[in-house]
Amino acid sequence: MSVKPTKHKPGEPPTTGHTWDGIEEYDNPMPRWWLWTFYATIIWAVGYTLLYPAWPLVNGVTNGLLGHSTRADVANEIQAYADANAEIRQKLVETDLTAVAADPNLLQYATNAGAAVFRTNCVQCHGSGAAGVQGKGYPNLLDDDWLWGGDIESIHTTVTHGIRNTTDDEARYSEMPRFGADGLLDSTQLSQVVEYVLQISGQDHDSALSTEGATVFADNCAACHGEDGTGSRDVGAPNLTDAIWLYGGDRATLTDTVTYARFGVMPNWNARLTEADIRSVAVYVHGLGGGE
Ligand code: HEC
Ligand code: HEC
Repeated sequence: MSVKPTKHKPGEPPTTGHTWDGIEEYDNPMPRWWLWTFYATIIWAVGYTLLYPAWPLVNGVTNGLLGHSTRADVANEIQAYADANAEIRQKLVETDLTAVAADPNLLQYATNAGAAVFRTNCVQCHGSGAAGVQGKGYPNLLDDDWLWGGDIESIHTTVTHGIRNTTDDEARYSEMPRFGADGLLDSTQLSQVVEYVLQISGQDHDSALSTEGATVFADNCAACHGEDGTGSRDVGAPNLTDAIWLYGGDRATLTDTVTYARFGVMPNWNARLTEADIRSVAVYVHGLGGGE
């Protein structure tokens, strides 16, 4: 291969001097249109980086002469929605909760807004369909079995202050004793009372043990779960006679619950949500089917 540039026949472009097996490479200039496009992109890039955020700095980026920011655009858009809804949100905060259902517009707004609040803040524990997570202590919010009360005011209080958290003094609170772990009941009494719970919840049980268990229950459990075991909303003690279980109704889980007790915690939402949002989500939950 020789690399000596050679001038060819008149009228033909020069070659680069590259030849392969006698085939020579023309040294054609870049097409004009291509070159101008190339220069144009350079000018465009300089202009762009002056006008728009472009160059990384130690903290952030150059802002650009136009002061454009997609973050600000989003903030403005959110603000525009908030402004558009300000009036109805104010109305929701001022209206008595029990009267919301009588105002179709307000009810519709609260239900839609509440569904959005629920999707963002509640689904991780209560499930996307609000059916809870059985066995983990996250209650189903669709049914009419309520720990702390299913009327709109009670739901609002529960959501506002939460349950057994350490961040709100007004949180709903109660503590089931650790009957086994703290030696309040011996193992015989434990198995007796577990058989009794199996009996009142309509499951297979050992009758001899459960007869004894009735006494253990009356002495140790009735104060919170009620004489008949149907629970008490004053202390959030679940109904033990139905087939709905927070943690589970089989013999092994019941033994676990009575031995170590449970301590379900829900955050107080007044720290994270506005009153309008809390009211919306309370209206939404109340409207899911189990509301009283
Ligand atoms: C970190 C998990 C968690 C999140 C998030 C959560 N919850 Fe809860 N929630 C619980 C637990 C646990 C309980 C049951 C506490 C108990 O055992 O008393 C509960 C109970 C409730 C109850 C009472 C049900 C009854 O039967 O009385 C309501 C109402 C409720 N949650 C609504 C909500 C709403 C609305 C949101 C979203 C704004 C939410 N929760 C977010 C964990 C959570
Ligand atoms: C001081 C009140 C209190 C007493 C006394 C008490 N409990 Fe409870 N119990 C509760 C509360 C509150 C819960 C719900 C705990 C939670 O949600 O984290 C509960 C939950 C339970 C559960 C779980 C139910 C489910 O749905 O999974 C069982 C079972 C139970 N108790 C049985 C008993 C038995 C048996 C006794 C007596 C030996 C007893 N409890 C005594 C307050 C009490």
